[in-house]
Amino acid sequence: MNEDKYDPDNPLHKKRKVHGRTFVKGMSQRQFDLLADFLPKVALDVGALKVDGVQSLFDTQKGEYWMEVGFGGGEHLARLAREHPDVGFIGCEPFQNGVAKLLIEVEDDNIGNIAVHSDDARTVLDALPDASLDKLFLLYPDPWHKSKHHKRRFICAENMVQIARVLKPGAVFFVASDIPDYVSWTLRHLQNDENFEWLAEQDTDWLQPPKGWQATRYEAKAQRHGRKSAYLFFRRL
Ligand SMILES: C[S@@+](CC[C@H](N)C(=O)[O-])C[C@H]1O[C@@H](n2cnc3c(N)ncnc32)[C@H](O)[C@@H]1O
Repeated sequence: MNEDKYDPDNPLHKKRKVHGRTFVKGMSQRQFDLLADFLPKVALDVGALKVDGVQSLFDTQKGEYWMEVGFGGGEHLARLAREHPDVGFIGCEPFQNGVAKLLIEVEDDNIGNIAVHSDDARTVLDALPDASLDKLFLLYPDPWHKSKHHKRRFICAENMVQIARVLKPGAVFFVASDIPDYVSWTLRHLQNDENFEWLAEQDTDWLQPPKGWQATRYEAKAQRHGRKSAYLFFRRL
């Protein structure tokens, strides 16, 4: 864990404990090369985003703009981007091995509709103009089990203000988790938030993955350990 250093003048950021860029051993030479040479070609320009909005991130105007926070190895993000070429995607992940995995898919399949932020998603949330996004995915956020670490959870009052701000009215915020305490934490935050409505219709539908869903890498691991997931959809009012 490092202090977030991206904007030392911002008093909010001074308080934030975040994942700085992190690596683990075991990256191939190709992955290192992709991070050095290819990432700059698909990297999100935070300054341009702030001034010119999401449209400025892609060569052509897109029908919708979706974002994934903490994409891990990027399987879910790459798949969505292939399935929805008319959507512009923003992917955020500070774990460089995961970023490198996504870049392999982006380069091999010539995926042209993902802007990659290889760092903290909150920088992007801060930069996004109001009502920019049609969907936001937060899949298996780090649970921070100990109660003294709960303040590090991505779902928190400060981030919910920004998430509400950057989503368009009617936009969907999707959270998946296999940690019961994180699920109730999320529901507590969102059900007390007048900006959001939980879209579950029956007690069981949020325990079933959406149609056509493919488990993320982390979710597959949870399944192997016998942990069930909750799939929570919220609408921005
Ligand atoms: C438990 S993993 C889940 C990864 C992936 N979503 C999956 O389901 O396989 C949580 C991920 O969130 C990332 N993460 C944590 N804090 C983040 C932040 N502030 N911004 C962006 N990503 C973050 C971590 O680096 C990690 O890869």
